[in-house]
Amino acid sequence: MAKIKTSYFCQNCGAQSAKWIGRCPACGEWNTYVEEVIQREEANTVAAWKPVSTSRQVASKPKPLSEISFEAESRIVTNDQELNRVLGGGIVPGSLILIGGEPGIGKSTLMLQIAMSLKNQRVLYVSGEESELQIKMRAERLGTNHNNCFILTETGTQNIFKQIEQLQPELLVVDSIQTLHSAFIESGAGSISQVRECTAELLKYAKESGTPVFLIGHITKEGNLAGPKILEHMVDTVLQFEGDRHMTYRILRTTKNRFGSTSELGIYEMQGSGLRQVNNPSEILISQREEHLSGISIGATLEGNRPLLIEVQSLVSPATYGTPQRSSTGYDAKRLNMLLAVLEKRGGFKLGTQDVFLNIAGGLKVEDPAIDLAVCASILSSFDDLAIPSTTCFAAEVGLSGEIRAVNRIENRISEAEKLGFKEIYISKFNVKGLDLKGRGIKIHTVSKLEEVLSGLFG
Ligand code: TYD
Ligand code: MG
Repeated sequence: MAKIKTSYFCQNCGAQSAKWIGRCPACGEWNTYVEEVIQREEANTVAAWKPVSTSRQVASKPKPLSEISFEAESRIVTNDQELNRVLGGGIVPGSLILIGGEPGIGKSTLMLQIAMSLKNQRVLYVSGEESELQIKMRAERLGTNHNNCFILTETGTQNIFKQIEQLQPELLVVDSIQTLHSAFIESGAGSISQVRECTAELLKYAKESGTPVFLIGHITKEGNLAGPKILEHMVDTVLQFEGDRHMTYRILRTTKNRFGSTSELGIYEMQGSGLRQVNNPSEILISQREEHLSGISIGATLEGNRPLLIEVQSLVSPATYGTPQRSSTGYDAKRLNMLLAVLEKRGGFKLGTQDVFLNIAGGLKVEDPAIDLAVCASILSSFDDLAIPSTTCFAAEVGLSGEIRAVNRIENRISEAEKLGFKEIYISKFNVKGLDLKGRGIKIHTVSKLEEVLSGLFG
């Protein structure tokens, strides 16, 4: 083992110590010291990644921006439209992409599926979590099989690079970064300094060889990517794979992207045979119902850049046990309470004695304020036991004084509703600027107060 200079750093305040200490004298936090490499002796160690001589190896010199050639078409376009969209139009060569998500959400499934779908690229799938047999079983489940996808069950970065040199893959997937370990660092796999070192080695490999690298990352109890925050700074793109484990929908979103927008969103459905791309999410988020039921309304929201029509369901019934209950799934509970107070104070509805249960169908979590009006409509529909026509939808925010407020990108919302066959939409009066109200297949109601919505809906 080569001699490496290490030191201990507090992960909370950054204080340094030559030996491990339980309590940081600088900030008082317990158990925050982690060993980190400060200098490694290059001479007698195996190089982390020794690229075959490439033109990229020439020491870089400043160049005028205008002279840098731009190969726009060099992105690898996968068969997965959702992934392409989220990455901003395909995988950029030499990019390092981190994908995080809860255990069991489907990260390995998604990556293996993508690895197998790339028929023209040699893909190396490195797994430190599952055996070859387990991966084979998963691949069988996914159905598609091809010969250009190689599996390596290995956790040492030096061995991985050795295999990479032989195989020369065109795409590398690492499942997961927390299982890797580098011989340069003594601490165990998954520790902060290991994660950082392994990522740095892979980053160097990606940039020097031009091979895109996907890293699967674990997340902590709080939902953040496990490992140092610096990990997110090192990579080019951070993708988050989320969804409710009991629901079949999965959402892939970007939280950072050096090569595209971060407001894109990919939607998948987990099926028995892997993840299916969902191209028209609104159709499945709105349940097919035959009869008119009270308490159901449709909100035209945006998830990222994508317009989505989402079903809001509520149940309002007299509270039988003391304090009325308020419960909401997929919608901020504080915001629900606020809207209930607005309905009580401004609309005169006696909701104070009622239990209110609210649910966003499909297991989605909605933060877009444009769903407010749909929430109010759904609550009142249940309270009065009057059904809202199933071809009516809503897109507006509700303010504290019961005013109907404008929302962004109203044009997209209306177009999506129209495309899905809705006949009427309620929007704010303040949203009509530059909007063509006539000549559409959908009737646009412009309102400024809650009462106008109610009289329009229930007469
Ligand atoms: P997995 O990819 O192992 O999750 P992660 O790598 O994020 O921990 O996903 C495992 C879950 O997906 C598991 O609960 C079973 C389910 N699954 C399906 O429903 N269909 C499938 O075809 C596959 C492969 C998995
Ligand atoms: Mg996994």
